[in-house]
Amino acid sequence: MAYLNDNYLKLKSGYLFPEIARRVSAFCQANPEAAKRLIRCGIGDVTEPLPPAAIRAMHAAVDEMGKRETFRGYGPEQGYEFLRHVIAQNDFRDRGLDIADDEIFVSDGSKCDCGNILDIFGHQNGIGVMDPVYPVYVDTNVMAGHTGPADDGGYSGLLYLPCTAENGFVPELPSEKVDLIYLCYPNNPTGATAAREQLASWVNYALNNRSIILYDAAYEAYISDSAIPHSIYEIPGARDCAIEFRSFSKNGGFTGTRCAFTVVPKSLNAATSDGKWTSLHPLWQRRMTTKFNGVSYPVQRAAEALYTVEGKEQVRALVQHYMGNAQVLRKGAKTAGLNVYGGVNAPYIWVQTPPGITSWQAFDRILNEANVVITPGSGFGSKGEGYFRISAFNSRANADEVARRLQALKW
Ligand code: MLT
Repeated sequence: MAYLNDNYLKLKSGYLFPEIARRVSAFCQANPEAAKRLIRCGIGDVTEPLPPAAIRAMHAAVDEMGKRETFRGYGPEQGYEFLRHVIAQNDFRDRGLDIADDEIFVSDGSKCDCGNILDIFGHQNGIGVMDPVYPVYVDTNVMAGHTGPADDGGYSGLLYLPCTAENGFVPELPSEKVDLIYLCYPNNPTGATAAREQLASWVNYALNNRSIILYDAAYEAYISDSAIPHSIYEIPGARDCAIEFRSFSKNGGFTGTRCAFTVVPKSLNAATSDGKWTSLHPLWQRRMTTKFNGVSYPVQRAAEALYTVEGKEQVRALVQHYMGNAQVLRKGAKTAGLNVYGGVNAPYIWVQTPPGITSWQAFDRILNEANVVITPGSGFGSKGEGYFRISAFNSRANADEVARRLQALKW
Protein backbone atom coordinates (compact mmCIF):
# COMPACT_ATOMS: atom_id res chain seq x y z
CA MET A 1 0.00 0.00 0.00
CA ALA A 2 1.27 3.46 -0.87
CA TYR A 3 0.93 6.23 1.71
CA LEU A 4 0.46 9.89 0.93
CA ASN A 5 1.90 12.85 2.76
CA ASP A 6 -0.84 13.49 5.33
CA ASN A 7 0.47 16.99 5.86
CA TYR A 8 -1.05 18.05 2.53
CA LEU A 9 -4.47 17.25 3.93
CA LYS A 10 -3.96 19.91 6.60
CA LEU A 11 -3.62 22.67 3.99
CA LYS A 12 -6.45 25.17 3.85
CA SER A 13 -8.58 24.69 0.72
CA GLY A 14 -6.61 26.32 -2.09
CA TYR A 15 -3.49 28.41 -2.49
CA LEU A 16 -4.76 32.00 -2.31
CA PHE A 17 -4.24 33.06 -5.92
CA PRO A 18 -5.79 30.00 -7.59
CA GLU A 19 -8.76 30.49 -5.23
CA ILE A 20 -9.12 34.11 -6.36
CA ALA A 21 -8.78 33.02 -10.00
CA ARG A 22 -11.56 30.47 -9.45
CA ARG A 23 -13.91 33.12 -8.01
CA VAL A 24 -13.06 35.60 -10.77
CA SER A 25 -13.66 33.03 -13.47
CA ALA A 26 -17.09 32.19 -11.96
CA PHE A 27 -17.90 35.92 -11.90
CA CYS A 28 -16.86 36.36 -15.54
CA GLN A 29 -18.96 33.40 -16.67
CA ALA A 30 -22.01 34.76 -14.90
CA ASN A 31 -21.40 38.37 -16.03
CA PRO A 32 -19.92 38.36 -19.54
CA GLU A 33 -20.47 42.12 -20.04
CA ALA A 34 -18.78 43.08 -16.77
CA ALA A 35 -15.97 40.64 -17.59
CA LYS A 36 -15.04 42.83 -20.58
CA ARG A 37 -14.15 45.74 -18.28
CA LEU A 38 -12.45 43.63 -15.60
CA ILE A 39 -9.13 44.99 -14.32
CA ARG A 40 -6.85 42.67 -12.39
CA CYS A 41 -4.94 44.11 -9.44
CA GLY A 42 -4.84 40.83 -7.53
CA ILE A 43 -1.73 38.72 -7.99
CA GLY A 44 1.47 40.72 -8.14
CA ASP A 45 2.25 39.77 -11.72
CA VAL A 46 4.09 42.24 -13.95
CA THR A 47 2.41 43.56 -17.09
CA GLU A 48 5.14 45.43 -18.99
CA PRO A 49 7.40 43.79 -21.59
CA LEU A 50 10.91 42.61 -20.73
CA PRO A 51 13.67 45.24 -20.84
CA PRO A 52 15.23 45.46 -24.34
CA ALA A 53 18.68 44.63 -22.91
CA ALA A 54 17.34 41.30 -21.63
CA ILE A 55 15.59 40.54 -24.93
CA ARG A 56 18.75 41.19 -26.90
CA ALA A 57 20.86 39.01 -24.62
CA MET A 58 18.30 36.21 -24.75
CA HIS A 59 18.16 36.33 -28.57
CA ALA A 60 21.95 36.16 -28.78
CA ALA A 61 22.01 33.22 -26.35
CA VAL A 62 19.38 31.35 -28.36
CA ASP A 63 21.53 31.86 -31.47
CA GLU A 64 24.51 30.39 -29.57
CA MET A 65 22.39 27.36 -28.70
CA GLY A 66 21.66 26.92 -32.41
CA LYS A 67 25.30 26.39 -33.41
CA ARG A 68 27.40 23.30 -32.67
CA GLU A 69 30.43 25.43 -31.68
CA THR A 70 28.57 27.44 -29.08
CA PHE A 71 25.84 25.03 -28.04
CA ARG A 72 25.57 24.32 -24.28
CA GLY A 73 23.98 21.37 -22.52
CA TYR A 74 23.63 21.13 -18.74
CA GLY A 75 24.97 24.18 -17.00
CA PRO A 76 26.23 24.41 -13.43
CA GLU A 77 23.27 23.65 -11.15
CA GLN A 78 23.96 26.65 -8.93
CA GLY A 79 24.17 29.09 -11.86
CA TYR A 80 26.75 30.15 -14.44
CA GLU A 81 29.74 31.98 -13.02
CA PHE A 82 29.06 34.98 -15.32
CA LEU A 83 25.73 35.57 -13.58
CA ARG A 84 26.82 34.75 -10.01
CA HIS A 85 29.67 37.20 -10.42
CA VAL A 86 27.61 40.19 -11.64
CA ILE A 87 25.04 39.58 -8.93
CA ALA A 88 27.59 39.42 -6.09
CA GLN A 89 29.49 42.40 -7.49
CA ASN A 90 26.55 44.72 -8.24
CA ASP A 91 24.01 43.85 -5.58
CA PHE A 92 26.45 43.33 -2.74
CA ARG A 93 30.17 44.15 -3.10
CA ASP A 94 29.55 47.49 -4.87
CA ARG A 95 27.39 48.37 -1.85
CA GLY A 96 30.16 47.43 0.56
CA LEU A 97 28.68 44.05 1.47
CA ASP A 98 30.91 41.03 1.79
CA ILE A 99 29.28 38.37 -0.42
CA ALA A 100 31.35 36.02 -2.58
CA ASP A 101 30.32 34.79 -6.03
CA ASP A 102 29.97 31.23 -4.76
CA GLU A 103 27.58 32.32 -2.01
CA ILE A 104 25.03 33.14 -4.76
CA PHE A 105 22.78 30.29 -5.93
CA VAL A 106 20.80 31.04 -9.10
CA SER A 107 17.36 29.44 -9.31
CA ASP A 108 14.07 29.54 -11.17
CA GLY A 109 12.25 31.60 -8.55
CA SER A 110 12.13 32.92 -5.01
CA LYS A 111 8.85 31.16 -4.36
CA CYS A 112 10.59 27.85 -5.08
CA ASP A 113 13.65 28.77 -3.01
CA CYS A 114 11.58 29.90 -0.02
CA GLY A 115 9.93 26.49 -0.02
CA ASN A 116 12.94 24.38 -0.98
CA ILE A 117 15.17 25.87 1.71
CA LEU A 118 13.34 23.74 4.27
CA ASP A 119 15.14 20.70 2.83
CA ILE A 120 18.30 21.68 4.69
CA PHE A 121 16.67 22.37 8.06
CA GLY A 122 15.66 19.88 10.74
CA HIS A 123 12.13 19.24 11.88
CA GLN A 124 12.95 20.37 15.43
CA ASN A 125 12.97 24.06 14.52
CA GLY A 126 10.44 26.46 15.99
CA ILE A 127 9.17 28.57 13.08
CA GLY A 128 8.17 32.25 13.27
CA VAL A 129 6.17 33.87 10.47
CA MET A 130 4.79 37.36 10.10
CA ASP A 131 1.02 37.76 10.11
CA PRO A 132 -0.13 38.76 7.47
CA VAL A 133 2.33 36.64 5.51
CA TYR A 134 3.21 35.55 1.98
CA PRO A 135 1.35 32.19 2.06
CA VAL A 136 4.26 30.19 0.62
CA TYR A 137 6.23 30.35 3.90
CA VAL A 138 3.32 28.87 5.81
CA ASP A 139 2.13 26.29 3.31
CA THR A 140 5.60 24.85 2.68
CA ASN A 141 6.04 24.36 6.43
CA VAL A 142 2.67 22.61 6.56
CA MET A 143 3.73 20.35 3.67
CA ALA A 144 6.99 19.56 5.47
CA GLY A 145 5.10 18.48 8.58
CA HIS A 146 6.23 21.38 10.76
CA THR A 147 2.72 22.27 11.95
CA GLY A 148 -0.37 20.80 13.46
CA PRO A 149 -3.83 21.37 12.00
CA ALA A 150 -5.27 24.79 11.19
CA ASP A 151 -7.93 26.70 13.02
CA ASP A 152 -9.26 30.20 12.37
CA GLY A 153 -6.12 31.79 13.78
CA GLY A 154 -3.68 29.72 11.70
CA TYR A 155 -1.70 26.48 12.11
CA SER A 156 -0.69 25.18 15.50
CA GLY A 157 3.07 24.82 15.80
CA LEU A 158 3.85 28.10 14.01
CA LEU A 159 4.54 31.27 15.93
CA TYR A 160 2.63 34.08 14.23
CA LEU A 161 4.24 37.50 14.66
CA PRO A 162 1.51 40.13 14.41
CA CYS A 163 2.13 42.94 11.91
CA THR A 164 -0.41 45.66 12.50
CA ALA A 165 -0.91 49.33 11.74
CA GLU A 166 0.17 50.00 15.36
CA ASN A 167 3.63 48.44 14.91
CA GLY A 168 4.03 49.76 11.36
CA PHE A 169 3.70 46.17 10.07
CA VAL A 170 7.10 45.25 11.53
CA PRO A 171 6.79 42.51 14.16
CA GLU A 172 8.08 42.87 17.70
CA LEU A 173 10.65 40.36 18.90
CA PRO A 174 8.94 37.32 20.40
CA SER A 175 9.28 36.53 24.09
CA GLU A 176 9.68 32.86 23.22
CA LYS A 177 12.49 31.38 21.17
CA VAL A 178 12.10 30.71 17.45
CA ASP A 179 14.80 29.04 15.38
CA LEU A 180 13.75 30.03 11.86
CA ILE A 181 12.23 33.45 11.26
CA TYR A 182 10.73 34.54 7.95
CA LEU A 183 11.00 38.27 7.33
CA CYS A 184 10.02 39.99 4.08
CA TYR A 185 10.88 43.64 3.35
CA PRO A 186 9.67 45.60 1.46
CA ASN A 187 6.74 43.55 2.60
CA ASN A 188 4.30 41.51 0.64
CA PRO A 189 1.40 42.07 1.32
CA THR A 190 1.48 45.24 3.45
CA GLY A 191 3.98 47.26 1.38
CA ALA A 192 5.73 48.22 4.64
CA THR A 193 9.48 48.59 5.01
CA ALA A 194 11.72 47.84 7.98
CA ALA A 195 14.10 50.47 9.29
CA ARG A 196 17.76 49.65 9.85
CA GLU A 197 17.34 49.59 13.67
CA GLN A 198 14.39 47.22 13.40
CA LEU A 199 16.34 44.81 11.22
CA ALA A 200 19.32 45.17 13.56
CA SER A 201 17.19 44.10 16.52
CA TRP A 202 16.11 41.00 14.58
CA VAL A 203 19.70 40.19 13.65
CA ASN A 204 20.73 40.52 17.31
CA TYR A 205 17.84 38.30 18.33
CA ALA A 206 18.96 35.69 15.79
CA LEU A 207 22.61 35.86 16.86
CA ASN A 208 21.70 35.61 20.57
CA ASN A 209 19.37 32.67 20.01
CA ARG A 210 21.41 30.96 17.29
CA SER A 211 18.38 31.34 15.03
CA ILE A 212 18.34 31.92 11.29
CA ILE A 213 16.46 34.68 9.47
CA LEU A 214 15.02 33.74 6.08
CA TYR A 215 14.97 37.18 4.53
CA ASP A 216 12.82 37.70 1.43
CA ALA A 217 14.01 40.83 -0.39
CA ALA A 218 12.20 40.18 -3.68
CA TYR A 219 10.93 43.79 -3.74
CA GLU A 220 14.15 45.60 -2.77
CA ALA A 221 14.30 47.44 -6.14
CA TYR A 222 11.21 49.39 -5.08
CA ILE A 223 12.95 51.11 -2.18
CA SER A 224 13.36 54.81 -2.90
CA ASP A 225 14.09 55.99 0.66
CA SER A 226 17.89 55.92 1.02
CA ALA A 227 17.70 55.16 4.76
CA ILE A 228 16.02 51.78 4.22
CA PRO A 229 18.29 48.73 3.82
CA HIS A 230 18.06 46.82 0.56
CA SER A 231 19.68 43.72 2.00
CA ILE A 232 19.77 42.07 5.42
CA TYR A 233 23.56 41.91 4.97
CA GLU A 234 23.69 45.68 5.50
CA ILE A 235 23.19 44.80 9.16
CA PRO A 236 26.43 43.80 10.92
CA GLY A 237 26.38 40.13 11.94
CA ALA A 238 23.74 39.12 9.35
CA ARG A 239 26.24 36.97 7.43
CA ASP A 240 26.21 34.67 10.45
CA CYS A 241 22.46 34.39 10.84
CA ALA A 242 20.62 35.10 7.55
CA ILE A 243 19.78 33.66 4.17
CA GLU A 244 18.49 36.18 1.62
CA PHE A 245 16.12 35.52 -1.27
CA ARG A 246 16.14 37.80 -4.31
CA SER A 247 14.28 37.67 -7.58
CA PHE A 248 14.39 39.10 -11.09
CA SER A 249 10.60 38.79 -11.31
CA LYS A 250 9.63 42.17 -9.98
CA ASN A 251 12.63 44.28 -11.06
CA GLY A 252 13.35 42.84 -14.54
CA GLY A 253 9.77 41.66 -15.13
CA PHE A 254 10.84 37.99 -15.14
CA THR A 255 7.66 36.47 -13.64
CA GLY A 256 7.16 34.48 -16.85
CA THR A 257 10.86 34.13 -17.64
CA ARG A 258 11.88 32.67 -14.25
CA CYS A 259 15.15 33.61 -12.61
CA ALA A 260 16.04 34.39 -9.01
CA PHE A 261 18.82 33.75 -6.53
CA THR A 262 19.45 32.88 -2.92
CA VAL A 263 22.42 34.01 -0.86
CA VAL A 264 23.79 31.43 1.57
CA PRO A 265 26.90 32.81 3.29
CA LYS A 266 29.63 30.30 4.05
CA SER A 267 29.79 31.64 7.62
CA LEU A 268 26.20 30.56 8.29
CA ASN A 269 25.90 27.60 10.67
CA ALA A 270 23.18 25.52 12.26
CA ALA A 271 23.29 22.66 14.75
CA THR A 272 23.27 18.95 13.89
CA SER A 273 20.86 16.88 15.97
CA ASP A 274 23.77 16.00 18.27
CA GLY A 275 24.61 19.67 18.71
CA LYS A 276 27.59 20.20 16.35
CA TRP A 277 27.71 23.69 14.86
CA THR A 278 27.93 23.06 11.10
CA SER A 279 28.00 25.11 7.90
CA LEU A 280 24.80 25.21 5.83
CA HIS A 281 26.45 26.29 2.56
CA PRO A 282 27.59 22.79 1.53
CA LEU A 283 24.12 21.43 2.32
CA TRP A 284 22.39 23.94 0.01
CA GLN A 285 25.02 23.27 -2.65
CA ARG A 286 24.33 19.55 -2.30
CA ARG A 287 20.59 20.11 -2.45
CA MET A 288 20.85 22.23 -5.60
CA THR A 289 23.16 19.83 -7.40
CA THR A 290 20.92 16.87 -6.55
CA LYS A 291 17.44 18.28 -7.14
CA PHE A 292 17.98 21.02 -9.72
CA ASN A 293 19.59 21.26 -13.13
CA GLY A 294 19.99 25.00 -13.36
CA VAL A 295 18.14 27.85 -15.03
CA SER A 296 18.30 27.80 -18.82
CA TYR A 297 21.32 29.47 -20.43
CA PRO A 298 19.33 32.11 -22.41
CA VAL A 299 17.48 33.15 -19.27
CA GLN A 300 20.70 33.51 -17.27
CA ARG A 301 22.16 35.63 -20.08
CA ALA A 302 19.02 37.78 -19.97
CA ALA A 303 19.39 38.20 -16.19
CA GLU A 304 23.07 39.11 -16.63
CA ALA A 305 22.03 41.84 -19.10
CA LEU A 306 19.95 43.54 -16.38
CA TYR A 307 23.27 44.53 -14.79
CA THR A 308 24.62 46.34 -17.85
CA VAL A 309 24.42 50.14 -17.91
CA GLU A 310 21.43 50.09 -20.25
CA GLY A 311 19.85 47.15 -18.38
CA LYS A 312 20.03 49.02 -15.07
CA GLU A 313 18.48 52.08 -16.66
CA GLN A 314 15.64 49.99 -18.13
CA VAL A 315 14.99 48.28 -14.78
CA ARG A 316 14.85 51.69 -13.11
CA ALA A 317 12.29 52.82 -15.69
CA LEU A 318 10.13 49.72 -15.10
CA VAL A 319 10.21 50.24 -11.34
CA GLN A 320 9.36 53.92 -11.80
CA HIS A 321 6.43 52.99 -13.99
CA TYR A 322 4.95 50.63 -11.37
CA MET A 323 5.65 53.07 -8.55
CA GLY A 324 3.83 55.78 -10.55
CA ASN A 325 0.84 53.42 -10.57
CA ALA A 326 1.23 52.91 -6.83
CA GLN A 327 1.00 56.65 -6.32
CA VAL A 328 -2.16 56.86 -8.44
CA LEU A 329 -3.76 53.93 -6.61
CA ARG A 330 -2.82 55.25 -3.16
CA LYS A 331 -4.34 58.59 -4.01
CA GLY A 332 -7.50 56.98 -5.43
CA ALA A 333 -8.06 54.82 -2.35
CA LYS A 334 -7.35 57.75 -0.02
CA THR A 335 -9.74 60.03 -1.90
CA ALA A 336 -12.34 57.27 -1.56
CA GLY A 337 -12.01 57.81 2.20
CA LEU A 338 -10.09 54.61 2.93
CA ASN A 339 -7.07 54.20 5.23
CA VAL A 340 -4.11 53.39 3.06
CA TYR A 341 -0.67 51.92 3.87
CA GLY A 342 2.30 50.87 1.74
CA GLY A 343 2.76 51.78 -1.91
CA VAL A 344 5.66 54.17 -1.22
CA ASN A 345 8.68 51.83 -1.22
CA ALA A 346 6.78 48.80 -2.46
CA PRO A 347 4.40 47.96 -5.32
CA TYR A 348 1.57 46.93 -2.97
CA ILE A 349 -1.06 49.17 -1.43
CA TRP A 350 -2.58 47.84 1.79
CA VAL A 351 -6.04 49.25 2.36
CA GLN A 352 -8.23 49.02 5.44
CA THR A 353 -11.79 47.95 4.67
CA PRO A 354 -14.57 50.28 5.86
CA PRO A 355 -15.91 49.39 9.35
CA GLY A 356 -17.93 46.18 9.47
CA ILE A 357 -16.75 44.90 6.08
CA THR A 358 -14.56 41.80 5.96
CA SER A 359 -11.76 41.31 3.47
CA TRP A 360 -13.75 38.85 1.34
CA GLN A 361 -16.83 41.09 1.47
CA ALA A 362 -14.65 43.92 0.15
CA PHE A 363 -13.30 41.58 -2.52
CA ASP A 364 -16.85 40.70 -3.66
CA ARG A 365 -18.02 44.33 -3.60
CA ILE A 366 -15.03 45.57 -5.58
CA LEU A 367 -15.35 42.71 -8.06
CA ASN A 368 -19.11 43.06 -8.53
CA GLU A 369 -19.47 46.82 -8.46
CA ALA A 370 -16.13 48.11 -9.73
CA ASN A 371 -15.14 45.02 -11.76
CA VAL A 372 -11.68 45.17 -10.24
CA VAL A 373 -9.83 42.19 -8.76
CA ILE A 374 -7.92 42.85 -5.53
CA THR A 375 -6.55 40.43 -2.95
CA PRO A 376 -8.43 39.98 0.32
CA GLY A 377 -6.12 40.62 3.26
CA SER A 378 -7.44 37.66 5.25
CA GLY A 379 -5.94 35.37 2.60
CA PHE A 380 -2.55 36.35 4.03
CA GLY A 381 -3.41 35.47 7.63
CA SER A 382 -5.75 36.39 10.45
CA LYS A 383 -4.13 39.79 10.98
CA GLY A 384 -4.87 40.57 7.34
CA GLU A 385 -8.60 40.46 8.08
CA GLY A 386 -10.10 43.92 7.60
CA TYR A 387 -7.67 44.81 4.80
CA PHE A 388 -7.27 44.27 1.08
CA ARG A 389 -4.21 44.54 -1.15
CA ILE A 390 -4.05 46.36 -4.47
CA SER A 391 -1.18 45.43 -6.74
CA ALA A 392 0.44 48.28 -8.69
CA PHE A 393 1.60 45.94 -11.45
CA ASN A 394 -0.47 47.24 -14.35
CA SER A 395 -0.61 49.72 -17.21
CA ARG A 396 -0.97 53.39 -16.20
CA ALA A 397 -4.34 53.56 -17.96
CA ASN A 398 -5.62 50.68 -15.82
CA ALA A 399 -4.23 52.20 -12.61
CA ASP A 400 -5.99 55.49 -13.42
CA GLU A 401 -9.22 53.66 -14.15
CA VAL A 402 -9.03 51.58 -10.93
CA ALA A 403 -8.45 54.76 -8.92
CA ARG A 404 -11.56 56.29 -10.54
CA ARG A 405 -13.68 53.21 -9.91
CA LEU A 406 -12.60 52.98 -6.25
CA GLN A 407 -13.71 56.57 -5.74
CA ALA A 408 -17.09 55.86 -7.37
CA LEU A 409 -17.83 52.95 -5.00
CA LYS A 410 -20.43 53.63 -2.34
CA TRP A 411 -19.55 51.60 0.77
C1 MLT B 1 1.80 38.02 -4.95
O1 MLT B 1 0.87 38.47 -5.59
O2 MLT B 1 1.81 37.97 -3.72
C2 MLT B 1 3.00 37.57 -5.72
O3 MLT B 1 2.73 37.45 -7.06
C3 MLT B 1 3.48 36.32 -5.19
C4 MLT B 1 4.67 35.81 -5.89
O4 MLT B 1 5.51 36.55 -6.36
O5 MLT B 1 4.76 34.58 -5.91
